[in-house]
Amino acid sequence: MATYIVLLGPPGVGKGTQAEILAEQTGLAHVSTGELFRENIKNKTELGVLAESFIHKGELVPDNLTIAMVKERLSCPDCGEGAILDGFPRTPVQAEAANAMLADLGAQLNAVPYIIVPEEVIIRRLSGRWTCREHGHIFHTLFNPPVKEGICDHDGSELYQRDDDKLETVKHRIQVYIDRTSPLVEYYRTNGLLTEIRGDQEIEQVTQELLDAIKS
Ligand code: AP5
Ligand code: MG
Repeated sequence: MATYIVLLGPPGVGKGTQAEILAEQTGLAHVSTGELFRENIKNKTELGVLAESFIHKGELVPDNLTIAMVKERLSCPDCGEGAILDGFPRTPVQAEAANAMLADLGAQLNAVPYIIVPEEVIIRRLSGRWTCREHGHIFHTLFNPPVKEGICDHDGSELYQRDDDKLETVKHRIQVYIDRTSPLVEYYRTNGLLTEIRGDQEIEQVTQELLDAIKS
């Protein structure tokens, strides 16, 4: 049966970084709603135009748009063995939709690692983050620098700083997480799916703890 993992946690805790590594190591697809929205914005699709104003302000994109996008993504062939869901679900409505979607696929959620780091670490991480234009690979000026400044190690494309990584927007995104997403922590704890992972460790150490959590 296919495997589905949700990486839960506030902005900047390392969901994207870890999902990228876990996908490579497990063969599961990496499904990042933030990255899917950014791709749509770059390609100026109808969804991209709708989503851009929310993302720019650090608000969540409405549930119906997000759910439809994920549903379509999970039906792609590369999700056949399952997926690492990075940034979805983010509201109780999305969590219910995720359950229904996976049930339709004859599957269910297997684990929800919840990554935690102190708020000052989040700010430091997001202020030094660089993202690749082509595929969303993630770097950090100090903690995970690319070999060649400004260029992605994996595909040679340009690195850029996300428009929603401005300090004021980051603070707002953290508040939106507290208000709208943090209720999912108790929801998944009650379901017995949640494992807490300390994200303020070396990237490799966090990966190891995530792999252990997924296997158990
Ligand atoms: P999204 O792109 O998902 O942003 P986010 O949740 O705010 O999370 P981030 O991507 O900022 O952080 P991350 O946890 O992935 O950290 P990363 O690995 O990059 O969403 C963006 C927007 O899209 C939302 O605000 C919303 O508008 C919309 N959206 C997305 N999903 C939605 C949904 N489901 N519903 C509605 N709207 C939605 O790491 C951060 C930095 O730290 C990097 O520089 C990295 O190199 C570094 N780093 C990582 N790990 C370590 C480590 N262990 N030690 C040192 N540095 C590290
Ligand atoms: Mg991310």
